[in-house]
Amino acid sequence: MMDGVRNLDREFDGITEQWSPRVIAAANGQYVKLAKVQGEFVWHDHADEDEVFIVFRGRLVLRFRDRADVTLGPGDVYVVPKGVEHCPVAEDECWLMLLEPAETKHTGDVETPFTRSVEEQLSGGGPRPVTAVRGGTGGVFGSGN
Ligand code: NI
Repeated sequence: MMDGVRNLDREFDGITEQWSPRVIAAANGQYVKLAKVQGEFVWHDHADEDEVFIVFRGRLVLRFRDRADVTLGPGDVYVVPKGVEHCPVAEDECWLMLLEPAETKHTGDVETPFTRSVEEQLSGGGPRPVTAVRGGTGGVFGSGN
């Protein structure tokens, strides 16, 4: 494989833990993450960041407090707006991509057994951490990340 080339099939193959996002690329202060998920995640929101979901395999339901649920299948793309509380649920295992700013905490400000630090999300041998964050809203390695 050419240096710098990441392959989605290969990266998904390397993910053995559900709900543990893996960073596969970084650009412009944003991370591209892959995750395998199954079951119910935790209710959370991202106060300052929109979150892009792209489903590759399976089915993901996004539950909301203040609007109808959204169901995503393979090829579907959906943006959860900043500040909107959501809870991802997948009956069977779902493979998805997330696009979000490097400083986004995947469980929001809620610290749960699901919470993975950015260091953990980068442990798949992905790109180096993004250190220049927009607006200085706490930094990539802020506490509770
Ligand atoms: Ni989220």
